[in-house]
Amino acid sequence: MIARPFAELSSIGVAVPPGVLTNHDLAGMLDTSDDWIVERTGIRERRIATAEQSVAMLSRDACQRALEGAGITATDVDSIVLATATPDRLLPPTACDLQALLGAHRAAAFDISAACPGFVFALTVAEGLIASGQSGTVLVVGAEKLSTITDFEDRSTAILFGDGAGAVVVRRSSSQGRGILSTYIKSDGRLAPLLYRPGGGSADPISEKVVCERSHFMKMSGREVFKAAVLAMAEACDEAIRRAGVAAEEIDLLIPHQANLRIIEATAKHAGLPMSKVMVNLDRYGNTSSASIPLALEQAISEGRVGEGSLLLLVAFGAGFTWGSSVIRW
Ligand code: COA
Repeated sequence: MIARPFAELSSIGVAVPPGVLTNHDLAGMLDTSDDWIVERTGIRERRIATAEQSVAMLSRDACQRALEGAGITATDVDSIVLATATPDRLLPPTACDLQALLGAHRAAAFDISAACPGFVFALTVAEGLIASGQSGTVLVVGAEKLSTITDFEDRSTAILFGDGAGAVVVRRSSSQGRGILSTYIKSDGRLAPLLYRPGGGSADPISEKVVCERSHFMKMSGREVFKAAVLAMAEACDEAIRRAGVAAEEIDLLIPHQANLRIIEATAKHAGLPMSKVMVNLDRYGNTSSASIPLALEQAISEGRVGEGSLLLLVAFGAGFTWGSSVIRW
């Protein structure tokens, strides 16, 4: 087997819609309060896209920034791997709409449906495309418009989610030791009904009944999801660290999926990392599913918390259930 790293993250770009929905706004719509939401989740506000701002458009803005950072153009891209739980249309892949918007005419473009850890799954696929020689330059995107599948009449879920996009340019590793040192992905489909959209897919196509029952929106058993997330995130941290052959103490920054501050704190505690080594920005964005890790990573870089040689641990959990992790030498 060829030794890792095969692939590195060359640059990053993000895009969030300007529209802000605060906890106070939600308290005006639902039986909830800023105090309750902050105490149980750590979230203070989230971004909400307008009807015109599509997932492909948010992705385009994020990708253009990432391409600029890497000093390349869209026609240099060999593959686009877009993780989303909220494709603009069910056919074609949103990645193809993104490809057209970018003018990335040489690329193969496809979506990945893996819920919140979608970015980690997409990174894993991108690494494989590079290691196999299929692609030299891959755009990995995590982008969501969760506001379109959130039931704003359901206080147990409406408080959690937001919209946004993040993209990285992944290329063949250029220098010794820099890049993706490990990835780990896992799923357990037996637990699907704990967090899902019952209607609107091919099993129960969109109909008046689906809309009246509001079954095209996300349904969640919050407590069960919470417990499963804590266990899965812990396992994923251990696995990525073990596979990378590093020690937990060497990790400079943990970049977890931004779902709930209490889940993040439990994950950090399990990994033996102080909160000073954990990137948290869910107070500003809420849970943006597959966009949350690139949004947190980009903010960590712009705040100077990630520099050349930093050892990063990415970890995420979501519907499916799905979970995954990666250790990256920046
Ligand atoms: N505002 C006020 N009260 C609320 C509320 C809200 N937004 N949502 C629920 N409640 C109420 C419940 O109705 C319940 O009331 P009751 O005791 O009178 O029945 C009470 O608060 C406790 O509800 P519970 O669901 O047990 O709260 P919790 O402490 O588990 O917190 C979540 C709820 C959703 C914040 C929490 O379970 C969670 O974050 N789970 C993980 C969700 C997640 O991250 N999903 C995405 C994974 S990628």
